[in-house]
Amino acid sequence: MDVLVTGGLGYVGSHTCIALHQAGYRPVIYDNLSNASIVVLDQLAKICGKRFSFIQADVGDALALRQCFTDFSIEAVLHFAAYKAVGESTAQPLNYYQNNVCHSATLMSEMQNAGVRRLVFSSSATVYGVPQYLPIDENHSKAPTNPYGWSKLMVEQIMRDQCSANADWLAIALRYFNPVGAHPSGLLGENPSGIPNNLMPYVTQTATGHREKLYIYGNDYDTPDGTGVRDYVHVMDLAEGHVQAVDRLFSEQGFHAFNLGTGNGASVLDVLKEFELVTGVSVPYSITHRRPGDVAVSVASPALARQVLEWHAQRDLKTMLGDSWRWQSNYPEGI
Ligand code: UFG
Repeated sequence: MDVLVTGGLGYVGSHTCIALHQAGYRPVIYDNLSNASIVVLDQLAKICGKRFSFIQADVGDALALRQCFTDFSIEAVLHFAAYKAVGESTAQPLNYYQNNVCHSATLMSEMQNAGVRRLVFSSSATVYGVPQYLPIDENHSKAPTNPYGWSKLMVEQIMRDQCSANADWLAIALRYFNPVGAHPSGLLGENPSGIPNNLMPYVTQTATGHREKLYIYGNDYDTPDGTGVRDYVHVMDLAEGHVQAVDRLFSEQGFHAFNLGTGNGASVLDVLKEFELVTGVSVPYSITHRRPGDVAVSVASPALARQVLEWHAQRDLKTMLGDSWRWQSNYPEGI
């Protein structure tokens, strides 16, 4: 069965193509290469022993989407393509709403025209905003604190409305907590351009010597060691969560949203200690001021995904760190 994967050469999208292939689906990758390398397609071919169909186009390009729905027998769409830098979204909100929200509406219109009714959307725990209680379940209030988070929540709302208006639509939003790790082959991983915003690529790039040291954003939070606590989840677990969601699209009706996380929190210092244990490489760091917008703790309740999607994260922090490091050591300059 052909499934369209927008943003299929990006971090979570590319790993999901592997899991889809393993589950017997045929990914058709659609990516404008704005924040991904074409080399990822070669890496996927090495891992899967098969070169996936690839369309270089923008999700805002309705004609290209139309052509794609004509050329392939697409039965479901997994929509990853989006801008994802929180800080940048605050500086350039219109770009984020245009690219993430308007283009998602274009995609859904073209799905509607083509008779494709099944959608899995890459959402984020950022839709919850500042946690009011922990662990965060799907009923938690939604109050994003930046345009990136709002763009994700708005797309969820469009999906919800589309499902209410059309009983034949099935749509699932997956709210990721903190995706980390890499494919165990070491051939594919997170490939950020420029200076990474997120902890894990900053840690691995410091370990290779590409960054002088890690700056820990605050050690005065109300957490056991004072540093921020997050629910890190292996990207291959996320990938498998998408496959479970696609499978479910053929039985569930309407709109559904699920957290994808482990339910366990790790602090920045926990991550550094564990990284040293797993890799034998110590990462120089210093403590600096808090990063604006950060919260002390963010941890998922993944209970609903376990119950309905029959999914739970299987890889622990050691595996996440070992896999991230294998990838970064193989490709210290990225690909
Ligand atoms: N951190 C540092 N130093 C760094 C980078 C991060 O100390 O150089 C700390 C942060 O303060 C935080 C933790 O590491 O405590 C994790 O930070 P990340 O930037 O890796 O992740 P966030 O939790 O801030 O962001 C993630 C996703 C966003 C999403 C957000 C909320 O990357 O896309 O969760 O769900 F919006």
